[in-house]
Amino acid sequence: MSSESEELSEVEITRRTYDEIAEDYARKLKDPYLGGFEAYHKMAVDRFLSLLPSPQARILDVGCGFGHDLGYFLAKGLHTYGIDLSRVMLLLARRSFPTAGLCHMDMRQLNFKPGSFGGVWAAHCLYHIPKRDICRVIDGIRHVLQPQGAFFCSLKLGEGEGVDTDRQAISYPGKPRFYALYTESEAREMLGGFDIVEWEVRPEIYYGSAWLYAWLKRT
Ligand SMILES: C[S@@+](CC[C@H](N)C(=O)[O-])C[C@H]1O[C@@H](n2cnc3c(N)ncnc32)[C@H](O)[C@@H]1O
Repeated sequence: MSSESEELSEVEITRRTYDEIAEDYARKLKDPYLGGFEAYHKMAVDRFLSLLPSPQARILDVGCGFGHDLGYFLAKGLHTYGIDLSRVMLLLARRSFPTAGLCHMDMRQLNFKPGSFGGVWAAHCLYHIPKRDICRVIDGIRHVLQPQGAFFCSLKLGEGEGVDTDRQAISYPGKPRFYALYTESEAREMLGGFDIVEWEVRPEIYYGSAWLYAWLKRT
């Protein structure tokens, strides 16, 4: 991975790229539940829903993008709130789900009362956070979850971090995004404040890496 321009703020570089690619990204992933990797994704969502402490639990979709999963939660009648750093992504989410609670927010500064949510869903987004900031994100998620609340996250397996324009960012080559890759032991340490319900490694390379899926509970 390239380290050039990291001093410009990796998060800002990533945000700008998502603003730029949002329309195309949303068009390509419009039906997220078609098959293959996406069929697995739907299973991941349903497993997360089965862990919610109550059927009325409020869900926070962190890095919700254009509403890929937010729409699924809403269709199930769940009170769902989405946050994202890309205003264009949020605009698309708002267009599809006009009544959803959507907010422009950096996941490093979650601004909700303690215990506001019964579930936090963080799919395909934690890897955009520099490792020096990830504990702040994980602590913030723990803080906004009620006891026994469910937490799902997906991570890219590997080592190191940096701004990438090809291997990890293969879906939009040349468009820089920041990626932090984790070994399993790093991930276990990072998520150590939660009870692990399920921990699944998907070894096949998809979008440049193998994947780790974790379903967790707040103790
Ligand atoms: C790969 S997309 C995934 C979107 C959605 N979760 C999905 O699965 O389709 C990553 C999302 O994380 C958002 N993101 C990146 N850094 C963020 C940050 N610091 N705070 C909030 N959202 C962020 C991006 O804007 C983008 O919408």
